[in-house]
Amino acid sequence: MPRTKIEKMDLGKKPGIIPALDISVGEAGELIQKLGEVEDYIAAYKISSLHAFEFGLKGTVAELRKFTEKPIIYDHQKAATDIPSIVEKQAKAAAEYGVNAFIGVPLGAGSKTLEAFVGACKESGLLPIILLEMTQEGATDYLKDATPRLVFDKANELGVTHFVCPGNKYDKIAEYKGWIGEGSIMSPGIKAQGGKCEEAVKAGTDYPIVGRGVYQAEDPVAAVKELYEQAKRGFESR
Ligand code: XMP
Repeated sequence: MPRTKIEKMDLGKKPGIIPALDISVGEAGELIQKLGEVEDYIAAYKISSLHAFEFGLKGTVAELRKFTEKPIIYDHQKAATDIPSIVEKQAKAAAEYGVNAFIGVPLGAGSKTLEAFVGACKESGLLPIILLEMTQEGATDYLKDATPRLVFDKANELGVTHFVCPGNKYDKIAEYKGWIGEGSIMSPGIKAQGGKCEEAVKAGTDYPIVGRGVYQAEDPVAAVKELYEQAKRGFESR
């Protein structure tokens, strides 16, 4: 199946759920098929570095494309952390292997790496998604207070419109929403890390990213439905 082109790549109406498929490629394929009945609530699927280890990125995308036409976001956990020339090669390879969007985390690598990542994504037709802050305790220990703003300003200047913000820190989501405006916010940290879907969306998250809260649920279809209902309530109460 041909890769969705960036100009046509659309995460769809807001809000939408992004299941994080941090499970084996076989299990991911089964989960995608199961979630077929709630695909309207799903904006994209996020695949992971674990898939690249297990199956290779190319094989993973080819396998999962049998079951869905939704955009596939690659989370290298964490990309855009190396020198510009390597980061460029990674983005071009991800595009070649059929990924539609690529998450970059340049917080420790700096502006030249960010520039190279975004440039290579654009050149290859990938949607670049840039992380501004992580969710876990101690996430900002080695960073300056101004780091997210510096990253945002540079990314914004480069034309980036999609950002990852921590779904369990509502005041931070609201602050970042003020910078991002009509752009899109995707947020992990929901359910397993304590973030509440409705609260995160109310604060500005457009696309909750949920891994364990979906793939470990007894009924993943019901979990996506419930997350979507919560997201919808949050969106309507903005
Ligand atoms: P869970 O199972 O916690 O999975 O819903 C979250 C997914 O999002 C990826 N990711 C992050 N997770 N904080 C997170 O909690 C972050 O800052 C972050 N950035 C990305 C994570 O790798 C997993 O796939």
